[in-house]
Amino acid sequence: MRVNPTKTVNELISALSYISDIEKGLNIYHAWRVAILSSQFAKNRVSAQMLKYIFYAGLLHDIGGVGFPSHIIHYLKRHDKMSRHLLLSHPIIGAQLVSNIPEMTEVAKLILDHHEWLNGQGYPRAKTKNKIPFGSQVIRLADSIDIALQTGRYHNLKKLKDKMSLNINKEYSKKLFALAFAILKEGKFFNRIVRRRNIPIIFQEIKDRVSFIHIPFKIDAIGKTLEFLAQVIDMRHPYASGHSLRVSRYALAIALAMNLDHDEVTRIRWAGLIHDIGKINVSRYIMNKPKKLTKKEFEEVKKHASLTQKIMEMLPSLKEIALAASSHHEYFDGSGYPQGLKGNQAPLSARILVICDAFDAMTSNRPYRAPLSPTAACHQLNKLSGKQFDPQITKIAIPLFKNLGL
Ligand SMILES: [Fe+2]
Ligand SMILES: [Fe+2]
Ligand SMILES: [Fe+2]
Repeated sequence: MRVNPTKTVNELISALSYISDIEKGLNIYHAWRVAILSSQFAKNRVSAQMLKYIFYAGLLHDIGGVGFPSHIIHYLKRHDKMSRHLLLSHPIIGAQLVSNIPEMTEVAKLILDHHEWLNGQGYPRAKTKNKIPFGSQVIRLADSIDIALQTGRYHNLKKLKDKMSLNINKEYSKKLFALAFAILKEGKFFNRIVRRRNIPIIFQEIKDRVSFIHIPFKIDAIGKTLEFLAQVIDMRHPYASGHSLRVSRYALAIALAMNLDHDEVTRIRWAGLIHDIGKINVSRYIMNKPKKLTKKEFEEVKKHASLTQKIMEMLPSLKEIALAASSHHEYFDGSGYPQGLKGNQAPLSARILVICDAFDAMTSNRPYRAPLSPTAACHQLNKLSGKQFDPQITKIAIPLFKNLGL
């Protein structure tokens, strides 16, 4: 399978930063607007390569906050002690996660420092002045501008400038402030960026201009990026830690035991990593609810499979795994969702994922029940063979699962 890593990795980052900003069905475009603003502010001040890093750091700057009960911007708007306490860790978590993506070390560094203030009152390391990388300073200012815009009170350039000027030489330098507001004024840029519906258009323009961070062919860059994605997906649900990675590993073990060819094995491993991406779009309240879900809430969760399908449409490079990823709740007897595919109508990779997903759910802890032992879970799988699961795959999976040594 020849998939271009540069295109795929960059596509994945844009898609992730898009979906993690969806709130109650609406996109608030925090990450996209911060990326646009930062790269515009920095464009004539840094090399073309650094501009790419700043743009992608803008896209991923708040990724460490994906697990918060509400979207991160709400805590930033509040300025209270509790919020600050919660916020302290997100630059570190984000930088750690992003540093696992090949060629993204510089991006991770910028993320780590994106809440540092010039006067040392920022976090996580209370850095000062030129100890803070220029790219992080730019993201800091862009971030604060977007937070002000998100309140809806500063949709007028003069008002915004007055508000932002209060933090000159505290949060950002006077020079950077002047540069940013000159750019916002240029060719009515501010009037365009203020309207939410313009953001996707401006984003596309800037993304094309900045162009992709080059990812070499020789490493497993796509697999590594998908592992990063899997961690982000699982952060959304406090009980899902490690779920996507485990499902992918179980599926890989089955695929190898079935002697499938290398491309098919890769597709299965990748689809396992990304299968729950639609869960990022399910309401935070439901995803974080510590009790058993009501029927209505469960219906909402069920939507994640079709949401995965929609998100996969944003990732044309990965179209070969789209169906496998979104069919991980299709049951062998046709009683699953979202399409009710029966038997071989669901691809082999999906039939493998269904059983791995179920096994991991059974053997994982839930607030309302203890985890099943692998043996007890395998007993359940056996009972559901031919109903939920493909009997041939069940036969291969059970001995593997029993020997996992969980
Ligand atoms: Fe942040
Ligand atoms: Fe932010
Ligand atoms: Fe899952």
